[in-house]
Amino acid sequence: MTRVFSGVKPTGHLTLGNYLGAVRRWADVDQRHSDALFCVVDLHALTVDHDPARVRRLTRQAATLLLAAGLDPELCTVFVQSHVDEHTRLSYVMECVANDGEMRRMIQYKEKAARERERGGSVRLSLLTYPVLMAADILAYGTDEVPVGDDQAQHVELARDLAVRFNQRYGHTFVVPRATRPGVAARVMNLQEPASKMGKSDDSGPGIVYLLDEPDAVRKKVMRAVTDSAAGVVYDREERPGVANLLEILAACEGGDPEDLSGVYESYGALKKDTTEAVVELLRPLQARHKALCADPAYVEGVLRDGAEKARGMAKPMVDTAYRAIGLLPA
Ligand code: AMP
Ligand code: TRP
Repeated sequence: MTRVFSGVKPTGHLTLGNYLGAVRRWADVDQRHSDALFCVVDLHALTVDHDPARVRRLTRQAATLLLAAGLDPELCTVFVQSHVDEHTRLSYVMECVANDGEMRRMIQYKEKAARERERGGSVRLSLLTYPVLMAADILAYGTDEVPVGDDQAQHVELARDLAVRFNQRYGHTFVVPRATRPGVAARVMNLQEPASKMGKSDDSGPGIVYLLDEPDAVRKKVMRAVTDSAAGVVYDREERPGVANLLEILAACEGGDPEDLSGVYESYGALKKDTTEAVVELLRPLQARHKALCADPAYVEGVLRDGAEKARGMAKPMVDTAYRAIGLLPA
């Protein structure tokens, strides 16, 4: 059976990008694989300036949204990263396999570090080592497939490199994982700045559709989306990124093809109206389930407790094997 693992950081409210690029597919996966694991990776949220109470709140909210999105705890394991010590145990060992040069080449590190320095802030060391922790998240479970959006491809590639290097140096230990991406909407762009990814911790609120946005808020954001001055609805990601983004969102919601859909519309207005309706309908059942789950916090807590226990049992033998292989004396 294919082992699947993926995660989401509690650094902000989950967005339409998170859903279309990753979370929606997780709900599909869990129907086919009873050993898939999905994790709220809270340790990763500490790599940038953070408010402890907010991280706790967002962790609970993200877990609730994963369940609302359709992850079935009977079929897959849903848990919080910091509840399972094996991640950090393995991360240190993988730091002894990674090089500082390859860490400094990570695109997300370069971008986030530059932004932080521009603001006059300092860069946390954990931001540099973050992809190693992510590799540990993946490798601890013998993961075959990692369903993620495009922005995580480089990090999964690093996890592959580290697995191969470890296996070559210390004997076969890890499964070499691979990223899987959605056919459409692998990189949903900010509606106000179609050259940038729709990221949940970005400042540009009007360009970000959050999963818990009311229909009216969705309508305002989509109707005000930046398109471009050229007339005609054409699917061209390079030259017409705003329109392409709307076509991809609509295609992802309705299951069509963005290129085909471009032929259906004559005006931006009609495209925006249909996209609004499609997003509102997509989010409606998720928001209803989220509301019901919020009324039963003890259920969500129970799922996370059971999930952590199951995850611990799966990761420990692998991490113990890696400890032995790299030369640590068994306790
Ligand atoms: P993060 O928000 O960075 O924790 O991302 C969680 C998952 O959502 C990862 O698999 C990302 O690749 C995916 N994701 C985040 N933002 C987007 C986006 N704008 N478009 C597509 N996928 C995304
Ligand atoms: N780095 C990922 C992101 O920003 C989140 C993440 C952490 C992750 N560990 C993971 C994703 C393991 C997949 C597998 O989106």
